[in-house]
Amino acid sequence: MANWWKEAVAYQIYPRSFKDSNGDGIGDLNGITEKLDYLEDLGIDLIWICPMYKSPNDDNGYDISDYQQIMAEFGTMEDFDRLLAGVHERGMRLIIDLVVNHTSDEHPWFLESRSSRDNPKRDWYIWRDGRNGAEPNNWEGIFKGSAWEFDPLTEQYFLHLFTCRQPDLNWENHDMRAAVYDMMRWWLDKGIDGFRIDAIAHMKKEPRLADVPNPDKLRYAPSMKSHLNYDGLLDYVDDMSRNVLKHYDIVTVGEMNGLFADRAEEWVGEHRNRLSMVFQFEHVRLWEPEEGLRPEPAVLKKIFTAWQEALEGKGWNALYVENHDLTRITSRWGDTEHHWRESATCIAALYFLMQGTPFIYQGQEIGMTNTRFGGIEDFDDVSAKNMWRELAAQGRSEEEIIAFLTNTGRDNSRTPMQWNTWPNAGFSDGEPWFQVNANYEMINVATQQQDPNSVLNFYRALIQLRRQERTLIYGRYALELPQHEQIYAYRRELAEDTFLVLCNMSSKAANWSEIELSLKGAHCVLGNYPQVDEDYRLHAWETRVYRF
Ligand code: GLC
Ligand code: CA
Repeated sequence: MANWWKEAVAYQIYPRSFKDSNGDGIGDLNGITEKLDYLEDLGIDLIWICPMYKSPNDDNGYDISDYQQIMAEFGTMEDFDRLLAGVHERGMRLIIDLVVNHTSDEHPWFLESRSSRDNPKRDWYIWRDGRNGAEPNNWEGIFKGSAWEFDPLTEQYFLHLFTCRQPDLNWENHDMRAAVYDMMRWWLDKGIDGFRIDAIAHMKKEPRLADVPNPDKLRYAPSMKSHLNYDGLLDYVDDMSRNVLKHYDIVTVGEMNGLFADRAEEWVGEHRNRLSMVFQFEHVRLWEPEEGLRPEPAVLKKIFTAWQEALEGKGWNALYVENHDLTRITSRWGDTEHHWRESATCIAALYFLMQGTPFIYQGQEIGMTNTRFGGIEDFDDVSAKNMWRELAAQGRSEEEIIAFLTNTGRDNSRTPMQWNTWPNAGFSDGEPWFQVNANYEMINVATQQQDPNSVLNFYRALIQLRRQERTLIYGRYALELPQHEQIYAYRRELAEDTFLVLCNMSSKAANWSEIELSLKGAHCVLGNYPQVDEDYRLHAWETRVYRF
């Protein structure tokens, strides 16, 4: 079924790092409003902004202390309303981050909940007695350490899957759900166009909260199985849909680690009335970053093709390669040393033209790269700091830890957006809250706007092409050259119309033969090299899009 969010191209904004409008060094809502023309001009239809709510910022806004107020550093509710109006005036839409697996420990709900064992909101969070003077079970938090925190006030522990300042809400409690639904309706009635639902995969916990087997005799054991896509989670989604989501024409995207293609339809099947799309994690392996650094094309083919085929005619994919929790994709999969521009654009074509709604993370459209860290003081992210402590306790050297976090750390994608060659990359007139990547004089929006061959202009061309061609939106995906070790190739087909996307995912030239895949009758409509030299040969990181 055709609809607006399937045809949209989406852009993710991390407000803290996008644009500072008042010189305090922190990106803000008015900064986003200033850049709406830029986004419109790029061809963006849908904007997702990361949390902008009131928050003590233990996890940069993902710890919310009031869902109906704006973080003072980001501006006011009037600023938000102006931003929303500006988005709508330009024919774009806006979705916000719904963070309801947990709140901040400063949220009034939690303050009440912790105040006494018989407070009516006690059960809105997950409280348990300790066991022999220690935690109620051996679960490890996602950001390391125990998943439990002792509260001396009532002498019980509360569960927190993320930091100890992010207590988990108890989704078994119906009063708590009703309060969350009221809050959601309040935003929807204000006119926002949907939600990206944070950490939805973790909302359901194994009901007995039992220990996980602990083979390594670690004090805290990896406990993902007890709360990642746990049986019964979809009942929560159904309840949320019945009460709120299905009553609005909105788009919803669930952050769904732990979901595989074979069960994707249960989440986003057209007739299920659940979510529009999910951000799946198979191709980025967020929680096992060491393994997912530079995947072989064969691995990517397997994962993407499984998702494309599983949802063909049944549901819809969200397509992405970057976000605020991942390292920069050109550093991760590409070759920033020898083929920065080619690999940034090749990866762009690879994921962008599959079936689904493509998301671009701020700075991805100019090929921003990972940054450099000199020591622990250069990191901001709470999970990086916890990881540092953990690795240091294991006796790893400072160099090893920096190397590990440089390749995996979330701070890489949180450096300020690079707008131009002015001081602080044009992000702020003041001292930026976080280091600007040293390469901003080379990689920035203003310079790339002038250059017809820039990464930015390649993204612009991709967006235009997708916008014009229904086949690139709704057409069926089919993998080509399945055994090729360097080239990722796929077709998109709708009725008589066919496109072919070719990507050489390597720093060496790659050949194939006409027998394997013929180009007869095809003409090239987009590419990242100045001209097509030889039909059956691609240069390093060359991409071409053909039409038949
Ligand atoms: C999601 C967010 C991440 C945050 C976590 C806890 O994974 O994307 O940034 O730290 O949830 O809210
Ligand atoms: Ca500011």
